[in-house]
Amino acid sequence: MKTREVIYEGKAKKMYRTDDENVLFVEYLDQVTALNGARKDEMIGKAELNNGISSFIFAWLQKQKIESHFLSKEGKTEQLVKKLEMIPLEIVLRNVAAGSFSKRFGIAQGTAIANPIIEFYYKADELDDPFINDDHVHYFSIATKEELATIRQMTLAINEKLQELFDLADLKLVDFKIEVGRTSEGTIVLADEISPDTCRLWDKKTNESLDKDVYRKKTGDLLAVYREVAKRLATIQEDK
Ligand code: ADP
Ligand code: TMP
Repeated sequence: MKTREVIYEGKAKKMYRTDDENVLFVEYLDQVTALNGARKDEMIGKAELNNGISSFIFAWLQKQKIESHFLSKEGKTEQLVKKLEMIPLEIVLRNVAAGSFSKRFGIAQGTAIANPIIEFYYKADELDDPFINDDHVHYFSIATKEELATIRQMTLAINEKLQELFDLADLKLVDFKIEVGRTSEGTIVLADEISPDTCRLWDKKTNESLDKDVYRKKTGDLLAVYREVAKRLATIQEDK
């Protein structure tokens, strides 16, 4: 299946073309970045952890009827996924104030948000992924009104399922970022990855961060906390 032609190298993954034009081979990288790539470090073992965690979550979501690009986990650091026409949005959902939300609006980190807030960022490295609203999405023809409504609905459904999953692992889902794309039939499905790189996960009892914030804030050992998330998820039975 795999051919070795790299079609894209990002900050966390390399994407390869395969002999099936509708399928991509994804290789996770032992690399961690912050500040849109301005800070970058090699971390041996991160690729295996992210691939393991993201594959587990996508497989679990598929069982919960959340459609996605995920086809299979291949090696320790690789996956096969459906090739999509990506919608250039970073879709963020917040259950609890933290990160840029706390900073932008002056809301104390840890403040609960009763009705989850969805935010859109235009995925464009050269512009530093600016915060945009629905009107910008339409103005720039990123997605239609109907597609945006679908994306909002999907994001809320994914939040419910992820909250259930992480709760089983004694983790609170503070916020997360997802990406979506269109299949060859034009259906919008979940893509990219879901891992402690893309979610804020706090221990349910202590509120300790078990996610990339330990790297962003230089407060802990990234590999150790990702291993802890992987260990907790591994205790959850696949059939739950
Ligand atoms: P970044 O581009 O932000 O540095 P990554 O290193 O994670 O991120 O690279 C993965 C790239 O692949 C991202 O640009 C993402 O939008 C894209 N991508 C994720 N899933 C798919 C898919 N199923 N089809 C096509 N592109 C995808
Ligand atoms: P933020 O508080 O920095 O806006 O981040 C919100 C969530 O989105 C958090 O879980 C981290 C995730 N995220 C990404 O996955 N990629 C990004 O480039 C950014 C800025 C945030």
